[in-house]
Amino acid sequence: MDDQVDTSVPQTARIWNYWLGGTDNFPVDREVGDQIRDAYPQIVENARASRAFLVRAVGHVTVEAGIRQFLDVGTGLPTADNTHEVAQRIAPECRIVYVDYDPLVLAQARSLLTSSPAGATRYVDADGRDVPRVLTEAARTLDLQRPVALIMSGILGHVPDDDEARTMVRGYLAALAPGSYLIALDGSRSARHGEAERIWNEQANPPYVLRSRAEFSRFFDGLELVEPGVTTAPQWRPASGDAPPLEVVCGVGRKP
Ligand SMILES: C[S@@+](CC[C@H](N)C(=O)[O-])C[C@H]1O[C@@H](n2cnc3c(N)ncnc32)[C@H](O)[C@@H]1O
Repeated sequence: MDDQVDTSVPQTARIWNYWLGGTDNFPVDREVGDQIRDAYPQIVENARASRAFLVRAVGHVTVEAGIRQFLDVGTGLPTADNTHEVAQRIAPECRIVYVDYDPLVLAQARSLLTSSPAGATRYVDADGRDVPRVLTEAARTLDLQRPVALIMSGILGHVPDDDEARTMVRGYLAALAPGSYLIALDGSRSARHGEAERIWNEQANPPYVLRSRAEFSRFFDGLELVEPGVTTAPQWRPASGDAPPLEVVCGVGRKP
């Protein structure tokens, strides 16, 4: 294992992996993961609904919008249905760049680099807030003159300052071609979520801020929202039937 992996401080990618039922986590991650789950049992459902949204959103832009390039910032640990697996099942020529700054994600990135021969996947070990660097690296694999789907799932909450988070999103979108998409998701503020946020920010790394739906919606300013707009993860184009709301907010927007 990478010697930079710090097993003494709970880390977001590993706690998320724990809630998703994965094994790439350590006792410290499970301990804080359990404390949060005790305070807010819905968190596990939120994590699973978040991944399910990502699968539907990637599928949607690949099928309906013909997107063949993806920039997944804040990738997380490999799981079932990683972005390239979903996109390349539909169109094997899809090209995907993954970006994360967690050393364990880097150590596990091999599983993210199993591209179909017709496409490509690449992993960039970088801080997603360093937009110029990420774009320079991404341009080695993606053609930025053509549309790209920018994925920011569970990362914007880790950029607590609103101005910084919005500047980051705008910086990426400004560099992407018309017809590009933003796929974004985060936990949303609620009374029940508050205790979980407190435990997280006392113990886990990096900090996480819960935004209201209105605050989150502003990340889509200037974009054309794909129906049904900004909503909760289970309610974004559910595969079937009635989907109960969860306190995790998401949306897909197209750059005109
Ligand atoms: C909650 S997990 C979400 C993982 C995945 N996107 C998903 O939706 O299942 C957040 C991920 O974002 C990464 N992350 C947080 N802040 C980051 C930053 N500034 N730069 C790069 N990655 C970051 C963490 O390391 C972690 O892997």
